[in-house]
Amino acid sequence: MAKVARLLEQIIPERYGLDIDLNMQDFGFAVGEVIDFSLVKPAHELVLHAVRLDVTRVVLDGRSAPVSVTLSKEDETVTLVFEDEVAAGRHTLSLKATGTLNESLRGFYRSTYTHGGVEKTMATTQFEAVHAREAFVGIDEPSAKAIFELSMTVPSELTAISNTNAHDVEDAGPGRKRVSFDPTPRMSTYLLAFLVGEFEYVEKSTPEGVRVRVYATPGKLGQLDFALETAVRTLSFYTEYFGIAYPLRKMDMIAVPDFAAGAMENWGAVTYRETALLLDPEKTSLSHKQRVVEVVAHELAHQWFGNLVTMAWWDDLWLNEGFATWVETLAMDKLFPEWNAWEEFANVNVAYAMELDGLVNTHPIQVEVGDPRSLDEIFDAISYSKGASVIDMLHHYLGADVFARGLRVYLERHKYANTVTHDLWKALGEVSGKPVDEVMSAWTSRPGYPIVSFEDGQIIQRRFFSSPREAKKAGDGASDWPIPFGVVLPSGTETPAILVNGPVDLPAQAMAADWFKPNPDQTAFFRTQYTGPMIEALSVALQQHHIKPKDRFGIVSDVFAGAEAGHTDGVTALKLVASLRDESDYVVWNALSGGLGSLIGIVEDEALRQKFDAFGLWMVQPNIARLGWVPRPGEVVFDTLMRPAVLQLGVRFDDPAVTAEAQRQFDGYLRGDELDPDLRGVALYAAARHGGQAEFDAILARYRTEESPQVKMNLLSTLGRFREAALTEQFLKLGISDDVRPQDLFMVLAWGFRSREGRDATWKFTQEHWSLFVRRYGAGGHMLERFPLYAAAGFNTQAMADEIGAFFAAHPHPAITRPTAQAVESVEIKADWYQRDKTGLEQYLNEWEATNRA
Ligand code: BES
Ligand code: ZN
Repeated sequence: MAKVARLLEQIIPERYGLDIDLNMQDFGFAVGEVIDFSLVKPAHELVLHAVRLDVTRVVLDGRSAPVSVTLSKEDETVTLVFEDEVAAGRHTLSLKATGTLNESLRGFYRSTYTHGGVEKTMATTQFEAVHAREAFVGIDEPSAKAIFELSMTVPSELTAISNTNAHDVEDAGPGRKRVSFDPTPRMSTYLLAFLVGEFEYVEKSTPEGVRVRVYATPGKLGQLDFALETAVRTLSFYTEYFGIAYPLRKMDMIAVPDFAAGAMENWGAVTYRETALLLDPEKTSLSHKQRVVEVVAHELAHQWFGNLVTMAWWDDLWLNEGFATWVETLAMDKLFPEWNAWEEFANVNVAYAMELDGLVNTHPIQVEVGDPRSLDEIFDAISYSKGASVIDMLHHYLGADVFARGLRVYLERHKYANTVTHDLWKALGEVSGKPVDEVMSAWTSRPGYPIVSFEDGQIIQRRFFSSPREAKKAGDGASDWPIPFGVVLPSGTETPAILVNGPVDLPAQAMAADWFKPNPDQTAFFRTQYTGPMIEALSVALQQHHIKPKDRFGIVSDVFAGAEAGHTDGVTALKLVASLRDESDYVVWNALSGGLGSLIGIVEDEALRQKFDAFGLWMVQPNIARLGWVPRPGEVVFDTLMRPAVLQLGVRFDDPAVTAEAQRQFDGYLRGDELDPDLRGVALYAAARHGGQAEFDAILARYRTEESPQVKMNLLSTLGRFREAALTEQFLKLGISDDVRPQDLFMVLAWGFRSREGRDATWKFTQEHWSLFVRRYGAGGHMLERFPLYAAAGFNTQAMADEIGAFFAAHPHPAITRPTAQAVESVEIKADWYQRDKTGLEQYLNEWEATNRA
């Protein structure tokens, strides 16, 4: 991989004056720049970042013009060559550049929306990771922190928003105004933002005096209050937790109709996809409400962790994303204790991280970054979810108070500056007196994680591979991750966590007990290899709920992972499912139903699938009976979340009563009744599963006019669940039509791959339109890299592993190199699993059928 040049080694910018003139008629913009910088070594050449900009009128120190100005598309730079050597030390560079607002959701781009039947355009920015260079010339690297003084000349009737407050608005000719913003703090280029458009907003101040606003394009004012309230509370929480005041005077949060990621933490001007910010109180499901809180809490965490203190280079991206993912959970738990955020954390982040990190094609948390176009692929489950998981492990190991004190030392010490991972460990180590660096560097610098087994009274750890082929290649050598290891005992007590980094004796209390459950609360990042006798010993305690939900979750998820990896088999996992079908905890139940789903997913034989469907129906019935259709007043949040999941499975496994009720509700919806927001998905799913063209058209019509962005997505996803081939075709075509924003296309494909009936057509469609996808998303923006894994999710045969691998190999792109290898590996794992277990599963289901009928 080509090493990226670090331009900061030569030019250190201190201050940028940026004067942007935006023409909303032809979407052209001009930027006048004055850059104060220091040159490290005397040179004839100055190299700065610039992409798709025309650079003119360059003047150094008010006098010398360069003899040549050369853009390199490859390096994304502009090189200015001067006749006389430029001395080391301070200089001022002035220049003008022009560019065009693009439609690619990154850099300085345009987004469209309709209001009052009129199509309108707004301008906005998305600079992370390396797209500031598309809007102005500069040193576009996270360590190149500088002060920005921005002004914008825009049509008078539009609003301009940036990181800081506007302190001045002047007339700038007919119909134009010039808005000048306060200087920013010292900050990285990727955090700069400016937006120009028509906006409406709601406003409130935090008790600490920070002015918070939530903005959207006109007509959405009724959907902004929840995010506002959440932001106000979250800012106060972080101010206290981090022990540092929010560094700016205001926080603006803006919903942008076309947006690549979920949200972006620009300092003081956070941008969001509409689905992640807007919330119509009448139409909102609980899970959507949780999503808004999650995203807001995540982006606001970055205002300290990421914006105030920033990773020195992208190889430590996880410091930003892993930490924000962890602390967003802390904030959610603080704001909504009844949500059980930490149990969901195990369900979402730990499970997701372990899945990807079980592949040989994973990468270490701290990852080398070559080509900037491959940067997008590191915004993945390793940086986010594994990063968050190892932080959680450390949090438990050090204790909440010590951990928080260490964080404050770290933030205070490095504010307005940059860090590497070691700086965080150093602060936490100083405060705790524990060998944090030693413990943690193993987790951040190596790929993968361990699985622990118990052999002859000893704790043995090896690297866990989901693929038995890879495990075989690796041999069975013991590994030495430093694991904080403890167990839960039948008395409910936990042994203290000891650091285990090689084979050691199992604690005596565990040896003596009837059963023990390793990894209390599942907070350490390892799996346990459960043997048949261990599961047997645990089963009564499991059924009687003598084991806490997080631990029950851990057992179920480790047993399924062990079955996939060939340590145990699918029948063992199915028996566990059967024994726990009364499980009432949402997260544990999710592991059970998700595990069952993954087993059903690998089955390619129709007859066997039908047996599985009968088993699935039997499995889900106790909870259908328990939860019903009508929420009980005051019920726990997990029941509210579990009800739609259970009822959807009722529809999926063809429970006649559930299906009939869901269809009845859908009919009512078509006649104008409102659906219960939490159960909307169930009714829609039944309509798709049993419907045809008429239902498709009815839902499409609703999709086109729906005002709530989340309901709109519910409707769109439903269109991908029809079973007729012709409707899948229509759905895929819709994905690239004007009815679907480019930001949503990747979801259309993901839904298509998830459908058994639609997966082949989706794969064909993906191949046929690949050049379109590369054109739309290929230059960065967090989307192209998802395609290989989405495709992999739909397929389970060696032939398809080969086909997917061959296609992407024939269409190489730096953003999909590693995801392609991951995709192929994961399909092969499923194919192997099926071959190993199909006979056993069939036998088990036959026996189950016989006993169940009797
Ligand atoms: N910094 C990211 C946004 C981002 C992602 C920019 C990829 C450039 C490339 C932001 O903080 C983020 O992580 N957003 C998440 C949502 C969050 C709740 C996990 C996202 O966009 O999915
Ligand atoms: Zn983030």
